[in-house]
Amino acid sequence: MNKLEIHGISKAFRHNQVLSDLSFHVKEKEFVSILGPSGSGKSTLFHLIGGLYEPDAGDIVLDAESIKGRKGSISYMPQSPSLLPWRTLRENVVLGAEVQGEIDKSKAEAMIQKAGLGGFEHAYPHELSGGMQQRASFIRSLLSPQSLICLDEPFSALDEFTRLEMQKWLLDTWSEHQRSILFITHNIEEALFLSDRIILLTDRPATVQQEFDVPFSRPRDPSIVLTEEFLKMKQKVHAELKVMT
Ligand SMILES: Nc1ncnc2c1ncn2[C@@H]1O[C@H](COP(=O)(O)OP(=O)(O)O)[C@@H](O)[C@H]1O
Ligand SMILES: [Mg+2]
Repeated sequence: MNKLEIHGISKAFRHNQVLSDLSFHVKEKEFVSILGPSGSGKSTLFHLIGGLYEPDAGDIVLDAESIKGRKGSISYMPQSPSLLPWRTLRENVVLGAEVQGEIDKSKAEAMIQKAGLGGFEHAYPHELSGGMQQRASFIRSLLSPQSLICLDEPFSALDEFTRLEMQKWLLDTWSEHQRSILFITHNIEEALFLSDRIILLTDRPATVQQEFDVPFSRPRDPSIVLTEEFLKMKQKVHAELKVMT
């Protein structure tokens, strides 16, 4: 089981109210995206879930247990890939598992191959492209024992081609490994292509403006972004964004 529940959390930094009475949940094996404008408090929300900060009000519950202010309950992939520069790709990939004391070397090897990183096991992060670093970072999350993975705008710094490839790769990998994913993005199309559900945040102080169920069946092919059904859904989300501004 791995269900995350966010109950009415609020967070301010001095006089800057960033999050206000924010509630939502992520079910087992669900792919949920948090969609919101820049500066609305998305990364702050992840830092709260990851236990780096404590909310001023509300609670964060994972599998019926409060994880408020507690680190290590979720696997967190930050906005820029945080590979350790002095470790090789292989050493980086097993890092999360190593911390928890459960390394499965053959599984790590298989995932490195499947991610198209074969031959780069002994390369250092600076020798890898942005997309390769992201894949390594995500494999590390999948090898960590935590059942919920939080990704903070992982593809926003990548070029369009690499981004599309990475989105497809992420979906394939996710469907194979059956984790819950909470994915942050400010890109409507990306959220629609990837998610089961989208949580649209308001501007700061952020709260949930609306939730959308994404009706497209899986597996999804990148070409669905050109279908009429997809464009209609995109317009629907877009209309809500307009209401905000
Ligand atoms: N550690 C911090 N101390 C003070 N202010 C912060 C801190 N972290 C984030 N903020 C503020 O919180 C707001 C939301 O930031 P952030 O969560 O990074 O937004 P987003 O990820 O949606 O772009 C910004 O106004 C930012 O300045
Ligand atoms: Mg951010």
